[in-house]
Amino acid sequence: MRTTRLRLIGALAAVLVAATVPAAQAHDGRPPTLADLAERHGRYFGSATDNPELVDEPYTALLGSEFDQITPGNGMKWYATEPQQGVFDFTKGDEIVALARADHQKVRGHTLVWHSQLPGWLTGREWTATELRAVLKKHIQTEVRHYRGRIYAWDVVNEAFNEDGTYRETVFYKTLGPGYIADALRWAHQADPKARLYLNDYNVEATGPKSDAYYALAKELRAQGVPLHGFGLQTHLALQYGYPATLEDNLRRFARLGLDTALTEVDVRMQLPVTEEKLAQQADWYRDMTEACLAVRRCVGITVWDYTDKYSWIPAFFPGEGAALPWDEELRPKPAYFALREALR
Ligand code: G3I
Repeated sequence: MRTTRLRLIGALAAVLVAATVPAAQAHDGRPPTLADLAERHGRYFGSATDNPELVDEPYTALLGSEFDQITPGNGMKWYATEPQQGVFDFTKGDEIVALARADHQKVRGHTLVWHSQLPGWLTGREWTATELRAVLKKHIQTEVRHYRGRIYAWDVVNEAFNEDGTYRETVFYKTLGPGYIADALRWAHQADPKARLYLNDYNVEATGPKSDAYYALAKELRAQGVPLHGFGLQTHLALQYGYPATLEDNLRRFARLGLDTALTEVDVRMQLPVTEEKLAQQADWYRDMTEACLAVRRCVGITVWDYTDKYSWIPAFFPGEGAALPWDEELRPKPAYFALREALR
């Protein structure tokens, strides 16, 4: 009953959208896509994707038409790209880059230095600082060089801070000290001087200890002339934890440091079951975050962490939660999708 009602609302909204788009704005006779709408503001609108999903044709059709930016969800991570020390495998990333190029989409590279999804050969032994420095430099430079000229922006270091703003005690921090971040940025810049280099994290959308730590670090790195160009706010939100009302102010302070910002892994999860109220609140949040990004000139784009609930990471990581993305599991647009369109119009 509820599902039927939601479907009806979705269908009605689709008709309304089609009816309100002037013919002159249509793209190949179709209503403009999220990417078309974002482009009018000088922004991109992207989605993450993952290699196993690429055999799903209805899925790839929408991925190729609605978005102008793609992020590989797993394919460029260390465990995938250097499964044995010094042995590189770029097949997964290459597949996604090739698809993106065919669809004229930018690619955000994700991610070079992260404590998670590391290969066993790296986590399974102790390293001296000299050894790990060499391993890190080789990994970064081999991967960035491989994709040179084909990656718009790299998440060079991912999730470097704890919630209280102290450094996360990763193997890199513990072995090399905080300077590993500046080194990673410099090495990546040498390997592809045109790529935009980002630090990226979750729970940094509002001002607070964690985003303050990034602000202080970014300021210091910029003052030292380290090649840092952007700050990525993952934006994995959850209805039960409240909306980060200081998002716009936060984006603005990073812009004042001369940095781009981007919402890099957006989703808005909820406790199941789905209700119309929760979907409406979720839609408001998608609208509000899009408006916040549009209000700050250097917020360059928005990426959803895949676009359909069919391929969301949420149910596997947060049992009892889900429905986080703008399209449902049957690839039908949800209220959040129409809210995104409204915000971008
Ligand atoms: O590849 C194996 C496969 O061989 C095995 O059969 C299967 C069984 O569990 O697991 C597969 O690995 C999974 C991998 O994704 C590839 O699908 C892992 O279990 C699973 O844990 C892993 O999850 C990824 C997660 O990062 C790991 O932390 C998600 O897909 C990916 O979307 C997610 O992305 C992260 C960003 O990189 C950083 N920010 C947070 C975000 C969400 O966690």
